[in-house]
Amino acid sequence: MSAKARIQYLRDVLNHHNYLYYVLDSPQISDIDFDQLMLELVTLENNNPSYNDPLSPTKRVGGSVISTFQSVKHKYPMLSLDNTYTETDLNKFDQKIKKLLNKNILNYSCELKYDGVAVSVVYQNGKLFQAITRGDGVFGDDVTENIKTIKSIPLKLFGDYPDLLEIRGEIFIAKKEFENINFNRLKKKEKLTKTYNSQIDLIENLDEKNKIQKKYFAEIKKLEPYSNPRNFASGSLKLLDSSKVARRNLDCIFYAIYSNKLPFNNHAKNLKKAKDWGFQIPKKLIVVDDIKHVLNFIHETESSRDKLPFEIDGIVIKVNNLNDQKILGNTAKSPRWAISFKFKAYQSYTVLEDVKYQIGRTGSITPVACFQPVSVAGSIIKRASLHNESFIKKLDLKIGDRVLIEKGGDVIPKVVAVDKSQRNLLFQSVQFITHCPSCKSKLVKPINEANHYCLNINHCLPQKINQVEHFIARDAMNISSLGTKTIKLLFENSIIDGISDLYQLKIDSFSNLRGFGIESNSFKKAENIINAIEKSKSQTFEKVLFGIGIRYVGKTVAKKLVHSFGSIDNLLSASKARLLEVDEIGEKIADSLILLILNLLNLSNNKLKIFFTKHKVIILRVFLITIDFLQNLLSKYNEDHVKCQVLLTFIVDLISSK
Ligand code: IVH
Repeated sequence: MSAKARIQYLRDVLNHHNYLYYVLDSPQISDIDFDQLMLELVTLENNNPSYNDPLSPTKRVGGSVISTFQSVKHKYPMLSLDNTYTETDLNKFDQKIKKLLNKNILNYSCELKYDGVAVSVVYQNGKLFQAITRGDGVFGDDVTENIKTIKSIPLKLFGDYPDLLEIRGEIFIAKKEFENINFNRLKKKEKLTKTYNSQIDLIENLDEKNKIQKKYFAEIKKLEPYSNPRNFASGSLKLLDSSKVARRNLDCIFYAIYSNKLPFNNHAKNLKKAKDWGFQIPKKLIVVDDIKHVLNFIHETESSRDKLPFEIDGIVIKVNNLNDQKILGNTAKSPRWAISFKFKAYQSYTVLEDVKYQIGRTGSITPVACFQPVSVAGSIIKRASLHNESFIKKLDLKIGDRVLIEKGGDVIPKVVAVDKSQRNLLFQSVQFITHCPSCKSKLVKPINEANHYCLNINHCLPQKINQVEHFIARDAMNISSLGTKTIKLLFENSIIDGISDLYQLKIDSFSNLRGFGIESNSFKKAENIINAIEKSKSQTFEKVLFGIGIRYVGKTVAKKLVHSFGSIDNLLSASKARLLEVDEIGEKIADSLILLILNLLNLSNNKLKIFFTKHKVIILRVFLITIDFLQNLLSKYNEDHVKCQVLLTFIVDLISSK
């Protein structure tokens, strides 16, 4: 047999055994035999580089290191699912679907809802072509090299697959694998601590002692246990070195197929067919013709959930017939033909030790409960948001309280109850702060709003830092080389005072900053930041609008505003009535946009705020504060303006500061 033929044979055999092991769970050769065949293939490939194939099973070990992921547009938007938590809501879903389809009987496919991170994989002529993360549902990151290292994802398909196929699935890690990884980290940490303790007391030189201590703490930090399997999976996809991903033993199941040439008009049958092509599909998948059977399946699965070797957070129920799916269609966020039934969250008790306050980029104050670390559904939890003052009052929280923590399906921990029987008289009630913990300004709570705000938007450091962080984020201006530490340093050294100052930065601006100095790679660091800032000038107006951080103006609203107004000039001169005409723009957003104008007034006393879009340079105007102007602004509110306490406080603040 020629080398070429032997290489091809070995690749096919190894792909086949990989499928038997990882997808069908029924290996037919021993690990040793498999490794031997792999070694033979590696040797043959090394000796015959002209037969190189990026999809060879030898490439599963990874090796490519990249500096950033390419953004790719999804061919079909990557939607999410609506959630239900109760039988009543599930029955409502069933009735709504039947009414829309004008049918009395329907088949539903019921599947495990794996708890990991979504990925979309494209196959061309049976070969893995590209793997993309969800991203914002429209654009995702190209993570092909990382995905190729996951052994349950086929590199080449078997049988009668369609030429062009897009398949979506969930990347996850098995519970056991996750525990092993954390266990090994713990062991390493213990070993490191032991060595450190035995060395540190013997060192007398203080500088040397400090150096070793610093190194020890830095290394220990890297060995903290991963918080939960889901974050571990999504963090893994973002690793830039694919060989690291290969070592993480990730897994993947597939749950949705897109192609013009699907074999059946039936979702479950297509999925089962996909298993023949090489894909792993949900371990439990049944088709039923009555919502009562769906409920039975949910109950059965929920009670045996702990026995599964991987985490699930619910059951997905899908209308099985593809024609029916087409008729039902999608909303902006999710298909109408599917729903997820989320399982009850796990709960644990712990002790409330403190309440700290976070200042958001819009000045909103969020109280955060800090408690003794507790394990809930596999994660170690130390903090949870308390949302606002009324949430604290409703719980009647006291420091020292025994509190019940729940981790919902969405991973965000919540404080759900207080065990008052465990209190003693010394426990102090949590008193909501009256002044900003950073700049000490008096906090304001607008009528009809739950949150307190620090209105010192332009002089309160955490707000300014958060504004810049939001502005440079990937979804906004994407200035990724600028990290939180550097932003803080730039503010602390008065090199920047806000977003627009980023555009005045030069390489020299960094030279006196800690960690920058004269070393050559520090110069490179500064150069990368400047280049990224330069590049951001070509971001679209939509991203700029989202990035400048107007309260309530998220990505979708920014898109709508750009669509309706086209330019910042048109937007800023729009009346409130005109703003309200735009789809999805309600009172809150309209008020917030008007607040923005005031904010700009205050910001821009002497400075021009310059932002760049693809098409033109936008100068956020310097307005002169005149009584006329304020009256004009207030008239946009008509009789409503009295209600908007934040706006009025702002105006009073502005006038008194003049
Ligand atoms: S179907 C358009 N089926 O859950 C329909 N999703 O919370 C797409 N998931 O975005 C979803 N197991 O990442 C579907 N058997 C399953 C699933 C599943 C896990 C994930 C998926 C989805 C998320 C929604």
